[in-house]
Amino acid sequence: MRRLRYHPRVRRLVQAVQLNPAHWIQPLFVHDKGAERRPIASMPGQFQLPLDQLPAAAQEAEELGLGGVILFGIPSEKGAQGRDALDENGVICRAVRRIKEATPDLLTITDLCFCEYTDHGHCGLLGHAGAQATVENDATLELLGKQAVLHAKAGADVIAPSGMMDGMVTMIRQALDAAGFAHLPIMSYSAKYSGPFYGPFREAAESTPRFGDRRSYQMDPAAAAEQALREVALDLAEGADIVMVKPALAYLDVIRQVRDQFPGVPLAAYNVSGEYSMVMAAAAAGWIDGQATIREILTSIHRAGADIIITYWAKEAARWFQPAN
Ligand code: PBG
Repeated sequence: MRRLRYHPRVRRLVQAVQLNPAHWIQPLFVHDKGAERRPIASMPGQFQLPLDQLPAAAQEAEELGLGGVILFGIPSEKGAQGRDALDENGVICRAVRRIKEATPDLLTITDLCFCEYTDHGHCGLLGHAGAQATVENDATLELLGKQAVLHAKAGADVIAPSGMMDGMVTMIRQALDAAGFAHLPIMSYSAKYSGPFYGPFREAAESTPRFGDRRSYQMDPAAAAEQALREVALDLAEGADIVMVKPALAYLDVIRQVRDQFPGVPLAAYNVSGEYSMVMAAAAAGWIDGQATIREILTSIHRAGADIIITYWAKEAARWFQPAN
């Protein structure tokens, strides 16, 4: 085997994974609380951007050749219904318009969910299942349809529902088609697992649930991997164009199974906030080589079978990216 490794060019010749920024998506947080760029303490290097600074961030993503950006909004006010998410002048709709005016070619994806907009921090309208407060599935679907059309009207290129409501893709597809957006793809967070890896994001998006957790709608990490395959099959039957596994690193097995089971289906993986923060903290402490670790992580997610990676390192990795030796 070592003859395949003895020379850098032999190694490069036999590589199967080619890193390419065109397949990476940079998440951007945009806030509606003034003109300052606000650092996110748990995600060093990431910021809540004011609307005015978005065009420059978008321009940079475009110049670096990224696959696109995915937007998360922090509204000026949150309420029980998440009204900002249903307002054509809400933070995300304005953000999309700003980006599309400045960089019309940059693929602009919108995360479609309510947790950033509700005061309770859950991903939809609250109701009850017995004595238990829970997110109402079907009432939330209605709202997701409306939210998707608003994003489309603002100029979003891809709609990415992340709330794990049953039937969300059907509802969004119907709403988009009826509003004249039959051409817009849906990238569904199909197999999204519940857990602590989203912790830093929730600080970033100010979306920590005020009570309870998301385990009645996001997947159980200990569920059979086949459950993820069922989620993907359902989303595809409902019309999803791109499916997603999330988080990435703890679920490389799931990524691989989805890849094998659904060949040819575009597959995204979300290299989530907790994965980012762990590496950034270890690198800052001098315990790990950050850049080399990021390269290995991106390589492993692609090798597991993801075509697309949503990663907070998209811009950074694209900056120092060189084909590996
Ligand atoms: C919204 C959403 C979340 C993430 C992406 N979209 C948070 C959550 O489900 O709590 C997490 C992304 C990350 O951790 O990087 N529902």
